[in-house]
This record gives sequence, structure tokens and C-alpha cells, in this order.
Amino acid sequence: MITPVLLCGGAGTRLWPLSRKGYPKQFAPLVGDESLFQASARRLAGPGFGAPLVVTAGDFRFLVAEQLMQAGVDPGAILIEPSARNTAPAVLVAAMRLAQDDPQALMLVAPSDHVVPDAAAFRAAVAVGVAPAEAGQIVTFGIRPTHAETGYGWLELESEVAEGAPAPLTRFVEKPDAARAARMFASGRYLWNAGIFLATAETLVAAFRAHAPELMAPVAAALDGARPDLGFLRLDAAAWEGARDISVDYAVMERAPNLSVVPFGAGWSDLGGWDAIWREMGPDDRGLAQSGPVTAIDCADSLLRSESDGLELVCIGLRDVVAVAMPDAVLIADRARAQEVRLAVSALRAKG
Ligand code: GDD
Ligand code: MG
Repeated sequence: MITPVLLCGGAGTRLWPLSRKGYPKQFAPLVGDESLFQASARRLAGPGFGAPLVVTAGDFRFLVAEQLMQAGVDPGAILIEPSARNTAPAVLVAAMRLAQDDPQALMLVAPSDHVVPDAAAFRAAVAVGVAPAEAGQIVTFGIRPTHAETGYGWLELESEVAEGAPAPLTRFVEKPDAARAARMFASGRYLWNAGIFLATAETLVAAFRAHAPELMAPVAAALDGARPDLGFLRLDAAAWEGARDISVDYAVMERAPNLSVVPFGAGWSDLGGWDAIWREMGPDDRGLAQSGPVTAIDCADSLLRSESDGLELVCIGLRDVVAVAMPDAVLIADRARAQEVRLAVSALRAKG
């Protein structure tokens, strides 16, 4: 049985103003009616999977509980981080928690900001990863790259791989600069890291002990000092403060020698910014993707969304624009610069 470990503590600032401090992107219905978090939880429910372990921030705990209930998924436990320390401490605390009951427990660490339309194909890929994971590998899932993306991890293959078969990896490169990404793309020897991985709890704890030993003591102490709080498990704040803020990709994946990959070709996208949402919403033949009360006259290649029933968004003659209207904030941006929304959020925070 595999325990899904759902990470959903990120802030999702690139999808402002829909994604907010108290309501980040993974909980918003971005494409369709369901949130990405709900879709991730349901994708990893059913035969072969146990109740998920959710790791999230205190602010999101009721959202998590309510959305899981709506999705018909019963959580095994919801761990609350007293502050956001990025994904490495979150993954380690989940591994330590599961290892307490069974060091051989298989865990599937899954982010909650992805779209994977074919859940059955994804579960089949996970099943392929079980044997190498039980043999002590950390199994990643590889996506065939379509461009020289700098926002992802890249997986270097030892040799050509077949869809649906596990293969060893020579290297993991997290978020390369543009020149390196271009070289990796051109070489044809790399896959993108889907950000999902499968391993036993013991394998992961050992990987942290070997490659990020500074995290061991603070995270263990945060778990030791955890206290139940209305059905949630709240990690000890003072101990957690001592954990370094680092992603699992830098802390462990770039350094671990025991990595494998299962190539996954059935459709995956990371909804990291408005440009990706535009693509995922399926623009019409003029390149327009709209939702909510929108009137578009002579517009093309744009994303136009009004998130409020009473707020009519009227656009005339727009090209390559992202326009998102919320009751209390409106974003209008060049679609090619949609990733810079993150900077706008920092500027707004600085304004207080
Ligand atoms: N619990 C918790 N706590 N979750 C977190 C935290 C945290 O402090 N920070 C981020 N997360 C969650 C996010 O909500 C998201 O679901 C997931 O962890 C991944 O974090 P991102 O910040 O979205 O990572 P990324 O997209 O930049 O990079 C990762 O994903 C790429 C694919 O989408 C890496 O694994 C890359 O290698 C990978 O290619
Ligand atoms: Mg992401």
C-alpha cells in the first residue's frame, strides 16, 4: 500500500490575484470546478493507496479539511507547519512520521499544483515505480520536455528509456539557468522532473541523513513535540524554526546517488503562472480563453477572467494580455511577462 503525501503549503504568488495569502492557487478552482489540491487527492485515492498524509500551513488547515471532505477523501493525518520552510522539511517530517509505524512504508510525495488529466495512466506509472522503490531507490517521474524551461528540475538519463519502464538516472539538475536549460533540451538526454516521487520512508530518512543532516535534529524535535489540535497535528514551533528553508530538490535530489525515473507521457502540466492556465483552459481559434462575465471585442491570444458574478469585464482590441478581475483587485499584464506577477506580489507586500 502506498501513502500519498500531499504537499500543499506553498504560497502560489505567480497566480495573484486569484491566489492569495490565505487562499493560494492549489485550493482555487483554476481549471474546471475542482481545486488542484482536490484533484491531486482524488488521483491518489483508491486501490493500492492508503489515506493521505497532508502537510500544510496553519492558515490552510480548515480549507484542507473541508476540500478533502468535499472530494470524498478521508485524510490519515494533517500535519501543520508552524511556518513555511519549503519542501525539504515538509517531506522529511512526513517520512519520519510514517517511519514511526513502518520504516518500509511506501510514500508518494505529490505537490498539489499540477494537472494530470489521465489519473489511471498516472497510477499505472506509480505501480511501475514500486519495485525500484522497495529496492531502495528514490523514484522520480519524467516528462518529455517541450522547451528549455528554467522553472523545473531536469533528469539526466543514462540511456534512452522506454515509456512505462523504470531506468536509473545519472543526475538531477534543479532549475538550471537559461543557457544550461537550452543545452539540456538540445541534447535530448533529459526529462523534466514532474515533482512527484516514490520511496520508502526509510530510504528518504536515510537520504536526508546523508545529504541534509542539518535538518534531522530540528525536524525530529518538531515531530516529537507535536501536539494534536482539533484533529490536526501541529508541529512544535520552536523546533521547526530551526529547520533550514530549502526545497527537497536542492537538499536531497541533486545529491542522492540512488535515483530512478519512470517516464510518464500521458499529459502533465504545472500550473505555475497565468500563461500555463491560459494554455490549460484551451484557448479558442482566436487564442482566447475566458471565464466568468466577460465581453471581448476583437481580442486574441489572451486570458480574460472575471472571478465575480457581478463584475463584467469588457475588453476591446487586446492581444497577448492576461486580465484577471477579482472584487478587490485586478491584474492586467503582458502575457509573455506573466511570471513577473510574483514581483508584483512582493511590491504589494512591501506597501503593507
Ligand atoms: N507543506 C508545504 N510547505 N508545502 C510546500 C511548501 C512548504 O513550505 N512550499 C511549497 N510547497 C508545496 C507547493 O504547494 C507545491 O504543491 C509543491 O510543494 C511544490 O512547490 P513549488 O514551489 O511549486 O515547486 P516548483 O514548482 O518551483 O518546483 C518543483 O516542481 C517542479 C514541477 O512542477 C520541483 O520539484 C521541480 O524540480 C519540478 O520540476
Ligand atoms: Mg510548482
